Amino acid sequence: MVMAAMPTAFVTGGGSGIGRALAKALAARGTTVCIADLNVAAAEAVARECGGSASSLALDVRDADAVKTGIEAFVAENGRLDYMFNNAGIGIAGEVDDIALPGWQRIVDVNLYGVLHGVLAAYPIMLKQGFGHIVNTASLAGLGPAPLFTPYALTKHAVVGLSTSLRIEAASRGVRVSVVCPAAVETPLLDSGNPGDLGIGWAPDARRFLTALAGPPYPVETCADDILAALSRNTSVIVLPGRARLAWRLGRLFPALVEKIGLSAVAKERSTRV
Ligand SMILES: NC(=O)c1ccc[n+]([C@@H]2O[C@H](COP(=O)([O-])OP(=O)(O)OC[C@H]3O[C@@H](n4cnc5c(N)ncnc54)[C@H](O)[C@@H]3O)[C@@H](O)[C@H]2O)c1
Repeated sequence: MVMAAMPTAFVTGGGSGIGRALAKALAARGTTVCIADLNVAAAEAVARECGGSASSLALDVRDADAVKTGIEAFVAENGRLDYMFNNAGIGIAGEVDDIALPGWQRIVDVNLYGVLHGVLAAYPIMLKQGFGHIVNTASLAGLGPAPLFTPYALTKHAVVGLSTSLRIEAASRGVRVSVVCPAAVETPLLDSGNPGDLGIGWAPDARRFLTALAGPPYPVETCADDILAALSRNTSVIVLPGRARLAWRLGRLFPALVEKIGLSAVAKERSTRV
């Protein structure tokens, strides 16, 4: 194994949105990035945008063996793993009684097992090195209730629990762990809707609903820059943007108020159902 001078980062879901912006921001700072995504054409395009030593990988984060093999190959090539961004994710939304078990399994497989696979592959490598930073993408929906997005909230709460617990376990062994919890960010996810094959009849309009609750979507490049700044401070739970941080803190002090706002937002969104 050759110890490279350049820091390295492996980014899942790097073909679009937050992952793409992170990959580009990291590459611009001199980091060797691997952009891994289910959508290989998108990953390749981002690697070209990053230029330099960036590479791409076709990867389904639901496949634990493929995640392990992909990360190990990247480390064998570059000699080190500074950052593991477990960022790939999907959204599934609607009324709980309209979502059959396959929908819950789908989102748990991607948003929770996908993150866990990255952690289980990267953590031993980082322990051996004695350094490294695992960065899991959850959401503001991982820190409070997200009615009509309950499957999503379920997975994101689990990612927060995984990350904040592992952070303490890993600290004395040289490995950092952070979890990113943004409010709405301007990415294709806001308009992607539910996977068609799940047959979920009605779903809230994510963009409208989240904007009403937490303000307009946050520009994705600003989000990536703010994440990297927070990582340099080794922030544990990275809540973005500032107004979401304020809402999160107020919500912890006044949970009844959060519930009241949620009830009114749900009633308003349901009124759009035809
Ligand atoms: N956009 C937001 O408002 C927002 C807010 C909070 C948290 N997040 C989280 O940020 C992360 C990135 O989301 P985004 O907004 O950039 O979405 P996006 O849809 O723009 O990008 C997600 C990427 O993940 C990839 N992906 C999906 N399933 C995959 C799989 N099984 N294996 C590998 N790659 C897969 C997609 O191909 C896509 O390139 C997600 O975890 C999401 O839940 C997004």
